[in-house]
Amino acid sequence: MLNKSRLTAVLVSAAVVTTATAGQVEVLHYWTSGGEAKSVAELKKMMEAKGHVWKDFAVAGGGGDNAATVLKSRVVSGNPPAAAQIKGPAIQEWASEGVLANLDSVGKAENWDSLLPKVVADVMKYKGNYVAVPVNVHRVNWLWGSAAALKKAGVTGMPKTWDEFFLAADKIKKSGLIAVAHSGQNIWDFTTFESVVLGVGGAKFYEDALVKLDQKALTSETMKKSLETFRRIKTYVDPAAPGRDWNLSTALVIQDKAAFQFMGDWAKGEFVAAAKAPGKDFLCAAAPGSGNAYTFNVDSFAMFKLKDAGAQKAQNDLAASIMGTDFQQVFNLNKGSIPVRLNVAMGKFDECAKLSSKDFVDTAKVGGLVPSVAHGMAIKPAAEGAIKDAVSQFWSDDRISVADGMKNIAKAAATK
Ligand code: BGC
Repeated sequence: MLNKSRLTAVLVSAAVVTTATAGQVEVLHYWTSGGEAKSVAELKKMMEAKGHVWKDFAVAGGGGDNAATVLKSRVVSGNPPAAAQIKGPAIQEWASEGVLANLDSVGKAENWDSLLPKVVADVMKYKGNYVAVPVNVHRVNWLWGSAAALKKAGVTGMPKTWDEFFLAADKIKKSGLIAVAHSGQNIWDFTTFESVVLGVGGAKFYEDALVKLDQKALTSETMKKSLETFRRIKTYVDPAAPGRDWNLSTALVIQDKAAFQFMGDWAKGEFVAAAKAPGKDFLCAAAPGSGNAYTFNVDSFAMFKLKDAGAQKAQNDLAASIMGTDFQQVFNLNKGSIPVRLNVAMGKFDECAKLSSKDFVDTAKVGGLVPSVAHGMAIKPAAEGAIKDAVSQFWSDDRISVADGMKNIAKAAATK
């Protein structure tokens, strides 16, 4: 038994240990919708359980364009957050500025090289050192459906081909419901566009046109067909789509006011947060024609160089927590994505996540696993921004002919 003064000494030293090792961790993210907020709350809980102080730096705006702008100004003024949600080639751009922290000591201690697919680990490293840590794998080429809306319109099952899709869309339109819940913002126009390109042209064409930005592919018959299909989808969109946020479009499907949405599986996070059941209330299927392909989108946090020792410790704990099995499970169950860490048990995940997990592995074997351009996984931000603008212009302005739309996109793709 401890006597009173000994007990006081133990408590005091414990308190000292806690303050010496705890730190503040400021995390810049854009997870502000219902499902997203529930997911990020899990990370906050884990960090607080380790004694750290979570400073939430949420910048609303799906897809993170606003967050990227805010991040730039913080880094330029010499006051970066500990961690920021950055992904794909943008990680390399930030690392080349010399502002990212080296996470190799955590990576080695936690064995990241053996826990991550090599393609993912390579994106997280700059010159061989870890500078970012991945959270999940989102699939982008999904079509979501409201079971009740489809039933009301007399549509049985999710369409697998574009012909089936347009037949279903006609029936839904006739029934008075919205056939396609679209969010008319650059990033969401392109999210639909890349699924169309994938579904119409296949993975090899997608890769040539949108990843390699090959001019021949960008001006081909297949691109013409893709743009025609894309424009045809617009005729099934309701007039309130321009400017609408992605989660508000998902809400229309949740409320059975709209039948379909082209969206990555963060939409599933919204269905789940609204207590909707997959296979019963809502349906998931690969976008028409793209069942043997998979556009991946890996969320990750890049860590910035910090001076304070407590903050550095908190940052390392954050990195280790993100790759832990507990976090990978609970976060992804809420987020709609699947764990990026290999061999995490999928028992608790639903059918959509299991399909995603299976297709991730299967498509990789046949060359069908391709990076999402819409979600910053494939090309440098400058060219990405330019082709997104050209695609959105084409979507918004029906006076632009398919031939001109194609020319504009090809020209934008040449942006350095
Ligand atoms: C991100 C997701 C996010 C979605 C909507 C995507 O680019 O990868 O994590 O939920 O945008 O904000």
